Amino acid sequence: MSSVKPAFAIIGGSGLSRLQGLEVTRQEVVHTPFGETSAPLVHGLLGGKDLVFLARHGTAHTIPPHKVNYRANLWALRHIGIEQVVGVAAVGGIRHDMEPGSIAVPDQIVDYTWGRAHTFFEEGLTDVTHIDFTRPYCESLRTRLMDAAESTGLSIVKNGTYGATQGPRLETAMEINRMEEDGCDMVGMTGMPEAALARELELCYACCAVTANWAAGRSEGLIDMAVIEANLTEGMEKVRRLLTAFAQIAGTD
Ligand code: HPA
Repeated sequence: MSSVKPAFAIIGGSGLSRLQGLEVTRQEVVHTPFGETSAPLVHGLLGGKDLVFLARHGTAHTIPPHKVNYRANLWALRHIGIEQVVGVAAVGGIRHDMEPGSIAVPDQIVDYTWGRAHTFFEEGLTDVTHIDFTRPYCESLRTRLMDAAESTGLSIVKNGTYGATQGPRLETAMEINRMEEDGCDMVGMTGMPEAALARELELCYACCAVTANWAAGRSEGLIDMAVIEANLTEGMEKVRRLLTAFAQIAGTD
């Protein structure tokens, strides 16, 4: 068993409840002041590098986006000493270059979620605490993800605004039009409060978005769940390549 401190953690979303190619060394259950994590933390080796994997929707993909215990997940990773987290998230594509099967590393967020436990700073405070969230993602981690993509010959979208919706339903066509007017390039259900909670814990966090479908109203007809699944399978194979390359350079600065 490896005893090296893992360089980073991956939170896997829909289509990534298990990370193919991860050589699992052990599983760890962490009980947190905020309740249970979505799944045990899975320690393992990817391309020979130590990392931790956490299935956001549970090992059997049973926890919907609005029921994920984001606080417990992030707190547990911090608790075991993780400093960098890549959140993999399925999205609907709004911008023309966010076609199904593509990968993006967003650089901004618009949050439309509601009623989720979205902060660690609400009980037992000695002072009211605000965090800076001007740039919601960790720039050095974003850069390393892009470097990893380049090193493995993957073409990815290098920016974009992630619009976080409440789910679990998909959006109406007019909601997507409104989101586009707000500046959103992609739409997903799990990007928030995950990114903000990571910042509250001073974790270096970035999102790796995988386009599962054109967002509502952006293709002919309705959104077909079987098509989403097929696109996710294609997209996640790219993600696996990207993360394997990323593991080689993670923690090197
Ligand atoms: N909307 C919201 N979340 C999503 C979508 C979508 O179209 N596709 C995958 N996750």
